[in-house]
Amino acid sequence: MKNSSLPLLLLLVLYTISASSRPYENYDDKSSLSSTISETVFSLQVPALDETTFDNLLSFGYYRKTCPQFESILHNKVKEWIQKDYTLAASLMRLHFHDCSVRGCDGSILLKHDGSERTAQASKTLRGFEVVDDIKAELEKQCPKTVSCADILTAAARDATVELGGPYWAVPYGRRDGKVSIAKEADMVPMGHENVTSLIEFFQSRGMAVLDLVVLSGAHTIGRTSCGSIQYRLYNYQGTGKPDPTLDPKYVNFLQRKCRWASEYVDLDATTPKTFDNVYYINLEKKMGLLSTDQLLYSDARTSPLVSALAASHSVFEHQFAVSMGKLGIVDVLTGLEEGEIRTNCNFVNDY
Ligand code: HEM
Ligand SMILES: *[C@@H]1O[C@H](CO)[C@@H](O)[C@H](O)[C@H]1NC(C)=O
Repeated sequence: MKNSSLPLLLLLVLYTISASSRPYENYDDKSSLSSTISETVFSLQVPALDETTFDNLLSFGYYRKTCPQFESILHNKVKEWIQKDYTLAASLMRLHFHDCSVRGCDGSILLKHDGSERTAQASKTLRGFEVVDDIKAELEKQCPKTVSCADILTAAARDATVELGGPYWAVPYGRRDGKVSIAKEADMVPMGHENVTSLIEFFQSRGMAVLDLVVLSGAHTIGRTSCGSIQYRLYNYQGTGKPDPTLDPKYVNFLQRKCRWASEYVDLDATTPKTFDNVYYINLEKKMGLLSTDQLLYSDARTSPLVSALAASHSVFEHQFAVSMGKLGIVDVLTGLEEGEIRTNCNFVNDY
């Protein structure tokens, strides 16, 4: 590691600590755990909650008695699907983000009825539903009516990350599946043309900090976008008759050739699209952020120091990605027995 990156790393550590002074609102609000736990560094909190018996909390041992084979069944399935089509790994991660972003991680993105989140404009290019369905079908054979679709999707996103060489994190379970899913709400998920203020607000209103925004945007180290969502940057940007000046000209040239049709796809990380690494941040430093929301993270003073720190250290990125995914995975979860249900088919509520 270069010496020059040390101050930035320190900064990152400070951000982590300050961000952890108000994390985990779900846990803190609903439990009587003393505030000493919430004052410890975030990454130490999850293990501290292992084996809790509060009935309204997630826990690591949640399926230990009722479906001990859950994680191994899921792992094998995710691996099988990704070996057939590695692009599904990125799609599963994005699907989890869209699920947690709307009504919390409650599987509401999976529901298929008229007017559900899945039918929204913002959901048009979501993929990976068949992977969740396949896992659910197997689990219904082995442990019927036990494992929620929300838990399946959360764990699948983790396993997909690991499959592409990203970090592992332990997922606490016990999310229940929501019964409400509304397209209009799904259209509030950022689509790539927002400003940094609205991105920060979007994350903060879900209990996540600026650091989580920057770190989780690093998921764009894999996966792709349809050209339709970035073509406005390539030609007549904001009526100037020219491409977006915050894009590297050579990269613009490449994109103009690659994106002749709106229906084409282009890699979000132009350098190492198939590997889960911190090159996404290095690309931002080179004006090669494909979505304008990616590039803006490097020009906004609230986020650029974090981009630099993450560009400087792969291991800091890996570690913090696991921590921030842990936070994403507990956003507004339904855990009380009277909340939600355990769906038997992830596409429909039980009394559909
Ligand atoms: C910060 C706000 C975010 C914005 C504005 C954003 C926007 C987008 C857009 C526009 C696409 C391309 C969709 C398409 O054209 O098909 C995309 C893809 C993707 N996003 Fe995000 N995203 C954000 C945050 C996240 C987060 C938090 C994650 C995961 C933790 C994530 C993971 C992904 C992945 C993996 C893909 C590739 C999907 C695929 O290849 O199927 N994004 N994102
Ligand atoms: C950011 O976007 C929001 C929502 O579109 C808008 O209301 C706000 O004025 C914008 N802020 C800045 C600083 O441009």
